[in-house]
Amino acid sequence: MQVPSYEAAKKRTKNETLIRDFKMPLKYQKIGAGKKFFLKTYGCQMNEHDSENIKGMLEAMSFSEVDEMEDADFILLNTCSIRENAHNKAFGMLGRIKHLKQSNPKIITALCGCMAQEEGVVAEILKKYKFVNFVFGTHNLDDLPKLLANSFKDQKLNIEVKSQEGDIVENIPVSRVSKYKAYVNIIYGCDKFCTYCIVPYTRGKQRSRKKEDIIKEVKELVKDGYQEVTLLGQNVNAYGKDLYEDYELADLLIDISKTNIPRIRFLTSHPWDFSDKLIEAIKNYPNILNFVHLPVQSGNNRILKLMGRRYTREKYKELFDKLKSIEGISITTDIIVGFPGETEEEFLDTLDLVNYCKYDSAFTFIYSKRENTPAAKLKDDVTLKEKEERLYRLNDLVNKYSLESNQRMLNKTYDVLVEGFSNKEGMLFGYTETNKLVNFKGQEELIGKILKVKITDAKSFSLDGELVE
Ligand code: 5AD
Ligand code: SF4
Repeated sequence: MQVPSYEAAKKRTKNETLIRDFKMPLKYQKIGAGKKFFLKTYGCQMNEHDSENIKGMLEAMSFSEVDEMEDADFILLNTCSIRENAHNKAFGMLGRIKHLKQSNPKIITALCGCMAQEEGVVAEILKKYKFVNFVFGTHNLDDLPKLLANSFKDQKLNIEVKSQEGDIVENIPVSRVSKYKAYVNIIYGCDKFCTYCIVPYTRGKQRSRKKEDIIKEVKELVKDGYQEVTLLGQNVNAYGKDLYEDYELADLLIDISKTNIPRIRFLTSHPWDFSDKLIEAIKNYPNILNFVHLPVQSGNNRILKLMGRRYTREKYKELFDKLKSIEGISITTDIIVGFPGETEEEFLDTLDLVNYCKYDSAFTFIYSKRENTPAAKLKDDVTLKEKEERLYRLNDLVNKYSLESNQRMLNKTYDVLVEGFSNKEGMLFGYTETNKLVNFKGQEELIGKILKVKITDAKSFSLDGELVE
């Protein structure tokens, strides 16, 4: 039993990151034969990719996946802590599982992901959700086989969460959702400690994967016919800083570009670490896509400072302008409204910045107080009603610019990676290099290919098009 600790999660040591190699013990490889698992994933791409590793491990233990929780022998929730909403959803799910467990006590239930790293959440599970079999965190994903095997023998609640550091575990089996697009982790954790954000506590210290391991993984993906990789990290722009003297994200992108994978994306960028070398790399290498997600969070300097963002709106605009000089680039962002004490004037600064940047799209959020973060201690006199009203106004503006950006694509032809059937009969869907969703008529055999599509209609959130012969 090892429970998480807020105090330990805050600490950063100079200890070198341990790299381990995953091996599935022979004795676990048949445990799941004839048994079914249900996995529910909340949160970001990082979590989605962790779930691909979780599935990989479960399949290597001979479990098979089901879509309905009611049909499962093992139910696992891979949770997210970023906002209260995600929290509540996971706890709601635990409520449903409790009922299932009452009718079938043999079901094994576990919780992992970011919420597992929270001292408060684990305390609540120990108090109110004792039927859960085990909990493991973001730093010991690879403990899943052992914990699961043990819980088939002994139904006692087991908590195995490490609060500090986290090793890097290579070669965990992976069962990818797509055959064409793949997520590849390049850096784990975050050391930025933005005052509203729980991630530095749930995902730990910033740790880069070795460039050789990343490039090897991409080369294998190329061999398997993958068309696109998204390099993942909470702050990918910090890549290499903990590992190399003179090798940064730009260098990694250039090396990956040489594998000839047709499309390379990277997520998420912090404006602080965005180097000129990176801008040049995006400009000069066609398979490093012209797409940058550059969260701004607020357009007001007082709020940015309180958020601990390390840039001013002027500095952000400077970087934005440099990026905009790249032909055809698409820039998206994240914005939080209603940060503690944000005034109407300060919110108007955010709208003003959106008017300046005219983002291709933006994810917008109402500030959510996260336990144990510095911002949670700030006085907040902005009512929820005011915050909601700000969110509506912001969304109206953001959607207007998304539509305009899509309309500029009308009657032009773009490369689209075809991903599958869309909801409408006979229609396929795919994404442009700038990550715009396009629906168009086509046959199954086109799935997985990059094709030329001419845009015929533009909406705020998607485009219609037709195949160009
Ligand atoms: N409240 C609201 N939004 C948040 N985000 C991160 N923490 C919070 C919070 N406490 C948003 C930020 C970040 C995105 C992933 O989630 O905009 O970029
Ligand atoms: Fe949610 Fe952040 Fe954890 Fe991703 S890293 S799952 S967004 S809390």
